[in-house]
Amino acid sequence: MIKGGKPLSGTVQISSSKNAILPIISACLLTADECIIKNIPGLDDVSVMCELVSSLGARVEANIQERELYISTPELTGHTAPYDLVSRMRASFLVLGPLLARAGKAKVALPGGCPIGTRPVDLHLKGFEAMDAQIEYGNGYIEAKARTGRLKGSRVYLDFPSVGATENLLIGAVLAEGCTSIENAASEPEIVDLANFLNKMGARIKGAGTDTITIEGVDRVHGAEHAIMPDRIEAGTLMTAAAITGGDVILKNVVPDHLKPVTAKLLEAGIEVSEGLSEIRVKGAPRPAPLNIKTHPFPGFPTDMQAQFVALMAKAQGTSVIVETVFENRFMHVNELRRMGAKIRLDARTAVIEGCDSLEGARVRATDLRAGAALILAGLTARGTTEVLDSHHIDRGYEFIENKLQRLGADIKRV
Ligand code: EPZ
Repeated sequence: MIKGGKPLSGTVQISSSKNAILPIISACLLTADECIIKNIPGLDDVSVMCELVSSLGARVEANIQERELYISTPELTGHTAPYDLVSRMRASFLVLGPLLARAGKAKVALPGGCPIGTRPVDLHLKGFEAMDAQIEYGNGYIEAKARTGRLKGSRVYLDFPSVGATENLLIGAVLAEGCTSIENAASEPEIVDLANFLNKMGARIKGAGTDTITIEGVDRVHGAEHAIMPDRIEAGTLMTAAAITGGDVILKNVVPDHLKPVTAKLLEAGIEVSEGLSEIRVKGAPRPAPLNIKTHPFPGFPTDMQAQFVALMAKAQGTSVIVETVFENRFMHVNELRRMGAKIRLDARTAVIEGCDSLEGARVRATDLRAGAALILAGLTARGTTEVLDSHHIDRGYEFIENKLQRLGADIKRV
């Protein structure tokens, strides 16, 4: 429940990254030794991933106060990722890599579609076939096994720089026989965080963060300690909250470099953004200038920030055009924003937004994680009260979102 109209001000501490920790938890399956993961965020998706690796034989302990996870997998007691877990969270598919690497076989449910698109996994599977895995389909599952019992290093070219495929193949290549190169790889910062963790475990990875990653296979890896990187999308979302409310907010625990495309667009919209070493200050403007945006894989403008910017542009001084090139159906927030008075025309992957000087509070429904975040942003600036239903979508990727916003002066509460 949000009562709009209050400019946000103050300081907020950004949590660590959902999209970095999920593949890192999966990578812990590669070793019998204990891995210590620090700075964990309290997110539903983290719990689901811990549940999944536990079902495969991992021992998982969490120290919530210290925000630490301790994971050790003496042996893999299972190699099946069941449909009920994979369908709840697509990132469950990331256990395919470590299962193939350590056990030489895996049975993983195909992730269903999700609100933002079909999200196939063909690039993951094509990559593993290139590494000498045999893939069979049946009853909504894929069964994969390394033909000789061990994956073989090979050259893998990704038709699209898929984040998940890059992560799955990267983890799988760590214990493969020989060298692997992943070309046209995704270069998101979360890939770099994963590669750093794997190298601490004794992997030999070069080039993470570029479009070509090379991995020299080793026979085994050992435990490691790793602090998860800050969540650049939570940071981008809270920067946009400061912008949309005309506020003045300092974000702590950020990596400004990870936010370059978001910062560039806020500056272009007339929002003041100043960067420190690990903090960013954002001063909003009553009505931003309109923008033309196209989402792209990193270092382009992130698709995970598209919904939030549609909300921001709903009050721009003019007409904006936002093109979603990564997912085929990631405009579920548009209908809900229209109910708040936003003037948006949709044509396939393009949203044309005619800025207006105010939005009206309304009862709206979150359809997915970032759409929900966009509705909160719209509620923060709308006249009157906005009720965001199905807020569980938002809890998947934002830790204590209402507390963070309350501390910045927002009139928001969970009912
Ligand atoms: C990751 O999803 C993120 N999730 C997503 O964040 C993010 O939107 C996405 O990367 C793009 O940055 C996690 O890291 C857990 P992709 P992922 O594989 O790996 C197509 C959020 O809000 N594709 O890069 O699933 C796919 O259909 C979430 O935090 C294939 O065609 O993204 C999509 O159109 C949402 N075949 C595009 O690539 C494949 O085998 C991008 O997918 C794989 C992907």
